[in-house]
Amino acid sequence: MSRIAIYPGSFDPVTFGHLDIMQRASQTVDELVVAVLENHAKIALFSVEERVKMLKIITKDYPNVRVESFHGLLVDFAREQGAGFIIRGLRAITDFDYELQMAQTNRIMAPGVDTIFFATNLEYAYLSSTTVREVASYGGDITKFVPESVARAVEEKIRDRYS
Ligand code: PNS
Repeated sequence: MSRIAIYPGSFDPVTFGHLDIMQRASQTVDELVVAVLENHAKIALFSVEERVKMLKIITKDYPNVRVESFHGLLVDFAREQGAGFIIRGLRAITDFDYELQMAQTNRIMAPGVDTIFFATNLEYAYLSSTTVREVASYGGDITKFVPESVARAVEEKIRDRYS
């Protein structure tokens, strides 16, 4: 049976930290589904469609990575995709409480779906989409944090928003 895993997130925007997890996770499973949450409660910089498009561009060279969007419960989406695993990155101890709670809740709801944690590469342990948005909003250079195509899209979005 093929091993399918979901790598869910907001990806607003996707960072080198996310990309590193995607690369490592895709080498561990047969198919990795990167899943962008359609979260209407959260005010996002990019629409879900824009995020999916950016993710497709940066993962185009990974043959076993697919990008989708989802709404509702993650475990329902995982089951729909036939996935047995959820992938999450852990940057630091500050991520742990929330991630463990989410993993355990998901496992109660869907005992057949296990969460696998990847320790974020030390190089990216400090990095988050929130700080990328913050730096970009003040006109800072974000090319050390996100792929070139994403940096251009963020800069353009912020220019449009504040012009
Ligand atoms: O990148 P993020 O914002 O940390 O990702 C959070 C995400 C999308 C994984 C999480 O909010 C999620 O799975 N939301 C869908 C609703 C759900 O299933 N919640 C988990 C129950 S604890």
